[in-house]
Amino acid sequence: MSKAGGTRMRVQVAIIGAGPSGLLLGQLLHLAGIETIILEQRSAQYVLGRIRAGVLEQGSVELLERAGVASRLHREGLVHDGIELCFLGERHRIDLAGLTDGKRVTVYGQTEVTRDLMDARAAAGAMTVYEADEVSVHDFDGDAPSVRYVRDGLEHMVRCDFIAGCDGYHGVTRQSVPAGAIRNFERVYPFGWLGVLSETPPVSDELIYVNHERGFALCSMRSRTRSRYYVQCALDERIEAWPDDRFWDEIRSRLDPAAAEALVTGPSIEKSIAPLRSFVAEPMRFGRLLLAGDAAHIVPPTGAKGLNLAASDVHYLSSALIDHYASAGSMAEIDRYSARCLSRIWKAERFSWWMTSLLHRFPDGGDFARKMQEAELDYLTGSRAAATALAENYVGLPF
Ligand code: APR
Ligand code: PHB
Repeated sequence: MSKAGGTRMRVQVAIIGAGPSGLLLGQLLHLAGIETIILEQRSAQYVLGRIRAGVLEQGSVELLERAGVASRLHREGLVHDGIELCFLGERHRIDLAGLTDGKRVTVYGQTEVTRDLMDARAAAGAMTVYEADEVSVHDFDGDAPSVRYVRDGLEHMVRCDFIAGCDGYHGVTRQSVPAGAIRNFERVYPFGWLGVLSETPPVSDELIYVNHERGFALCSMRSRTRSRYYVQCALDERIEAWPDDRFWDEIRSRLDPAAAEALVTGPSIEKSIAPLRSFVAEPMRFGRLLLAGDAAHIVPPTGAKGLNLAASDVHYLSSALIDHYASAGSMAEIDRYSARCLSRIWKAERFSWWMTSLLHRFPDGGDFARKMQEAELDYLTGSRAAATALAENYVGLPF
């Protein structure tokens, strides 16, 4: 079928992907008077249906404030001053605020962040093409990059100054870089997380991270009436093998007696299994193509860093692009983008890997590894210095 007859247009920045990275970048650039188009392969409904993490660092909240999309977050988000670590059947609190001069995290689902950003983009009248097929990126090694996509059977072309690759881990932008120009670093963990969302009040006011002989568990929440729970599971686990009752029995068996007693169960409204992976691609800039968020890196969810890293990339990327247009096309900040991001990314990768290693049962771990975890957890909850190191990473290192 001929695809001729599509539109041709020009914008300053073409953004691939309407996840949190692409939408937040679009909003910050819009506020600076920079024109963007967002090309997203899925529908808006599909993007909003993905359930992901929900803990925002203070820096991410401040960035959302700057983007003008934080009013519902401040109304509905839950501010948390601490987390709990549970091991050997007992809970121990880490006083995040007390250990970090008052820094806190806000529990507010990624789905809600995405919805607020979509609403802001619609209100701004900025262009988003959903269900854009066969997106491809061209000539980003020169001065005149372009993007092509198919919509309703027609091929459209967008010329631009820069392409922002915000299209997630499976996206097309990173895969369009010549193999010799990029280096990937990866660790795949030998287990997954089985997650359940339920319309039930959270078991505790704060998140509980559990190290248990049956495996890791996490009690999280989305609101005072909606909970999110996870248990570590085998990679080949099938969701059909986990009716709700089995899930509730399993998580209860991993909690301390008081939490097990307090757990309110109910029908799941979402249930899924996710693998755990650490991944970084270096560099994050290839001429006029700049990667941000999951397109460039993945963290295992244990430290709740995925969305926050996407936000810090977008902070650096938006400032670099704004500087470019404000300073007669200077490339100085664009040149610094990749190194600035990666320095913060590797620290968050380290923290997420460390939290994962501390709390999960590894199939080949054995008794020695378990004793090392217990000693480290005991040290963490007994030493202010060790607890401070956890707390300052959990609330987020400075931008
Ligand atoms: N063309 C257009 N859009 C694409 C393509 C493509 N070829 N491939 C992927 N996309 C879209 C996806 O459909 C998705 O909506 O890009 C978007 C990427 O969004 P995310 O995966 O949410 O990535 P990002 O915006 O960087 O957000 C990072 O998401 O995975 C979590 O833990 C992660 O919270 C973090 C956040
Ligand atoms: C979540 O609420 O989904 C969540 C919270 C904290 C994490 C991971 C996931 O570390």
